Amino acid sequence: MTSSPLAPAPARAAATATPTLAELPIRPELVGEVPYGAPQLDVPVCLNVNENPYPPSPTVVAEIALAVADAAQTMNRYPERDALALRADLAAYLGHGLGAEAVWAANGSNEVMMHVLQAFGGPGRSVLSFAPTYSMYPEYARNTHTRWVTAPRAEDFGIDAASAVAAVQRFRPDVVLLTSPNNPTGTAVDLDTVAAVCDAAPGVVVVDEAYVEFARAGTPSALELLPHYPRLAVSRTMSKAFAFAGGRLGYLAAAPAFVDALRVVRLPYHLSAVTQAVARVALAHAPEMLAAVAELRTARDDVARWLGEQGLQVADSDANFVLFGRFADRHAVWQALLERGVLIREVGPTGWLRVSAGTAAEMTAFRTALSEVLVLPLAQRLSAAAGPRRGATR
Ligand SMILES: Cc1ncc(COP(=O)(O)O)c(C=O)c1O
Repeated sequence: MTSSPLAPAPARAAATATPTLAELPIRPELVGEVPYGAPQLDVPVCLNVNENPYPPSPTVVAEIALAVADAAQTMNRYPERDALALRADLAAYLGHGLGAEAVWAANGSNEVMMHVLQAFGGPGRSVLSFAPTYSMYPEYARNTHTRWVTAPRAEDFGIDAASAVAAVQRFRPDVVLLTSPNNPTGTAVDLDTVAAVCDAAPGVVVVDEAYVEFARAGTPSALELLPHYPRLAVSRTMSKAFAFAGGRLGYLAAAPAFVDALRVVRLPYHLSAVTQAVARVALAHAPEMLAAVAELRTARDDVARWLGEQGLQVADSDANFVLFGRFADRHAVWQALLERGVLIREVGPTGWLRVSAGTAAEMTAFRTALSEVLVLPLAQRLSAAAGPRRGATR
């Protein structure tokens, strides 16, 4: 029976108020959780998320604009679902004899890692990493119902083969995540350790090389091990050295069957036509996009040395950032720097802070601000006895 247009509308319970998150039937493990993210603040000096501080050149900007205009012409159509042309470009960039079928790409290596855990983790499964490490990993684990387990890093934040293998044998994880260089410590893992973990692991091993381009010359990539280990994957990103964080492009190299597993779990058309097009432009200009890497390595080494000269403890870094401390109240130090227009990151073990390598002007601003802050009572440092780390060595 259809109701007459003149009949009164059926009574509906009036909404009393906009519900709060706690009032919604959210998954129990998400209750009380907040979205991840470093503060995005409008300050003169942003040294908090390990970006490359140099924007693309006018030539690259113009080519990106043309590529977007070109993609716009067919925006009524879905993008190429397997992003094969982009994956071929990424494979060519990586070298090591890789082809498109051995490379996967997604919206940042964050999404790549979600695909890995969706495919190889999940309920009843576990992922092992070595703490302190990247703070997003436990969130990927939570979101995929994968149990998150950690083993501690050594005092210098390194991972030695024997203790890594012992952790693998103890937890029998389905996924091992080795971050090299590690965030937030900057520590690289040697290939013997990666190989030992691959030999011991019952599941897959992912080496997250988000910062590898900043490693000291001659530091080998785990890409070298791919031919020997079919359950090994190496994850990379264009967000850091490649100066393309806004483009959102992460990728992974592995055996084609490993990549096929990720294709099963990805959302259809996950990489937009615009993302694919602009990432290909950036890759076509790889040497130019990477041109600042040497300068940023020097900025890192200079700031590490300077921090050591201030009597601070500094973790040895192969990335584009430096972890330093230790402060009795690191938040107060972070806040005092922010008040001076310098945003760094309050992250990592208690008492430590992390600063990214920026332009020469940004590093000068950071040093000036920290010099002022270090003489304030709030910058009181933990005694050497309380802080076992070495001073800066380079
Ligand atoms: C170790 C590590 N892996 C992965 C990522 C994610 O990078 P993106 O999603 O921008 O590719 C980051 C970002 O800071 C990181 O530090």
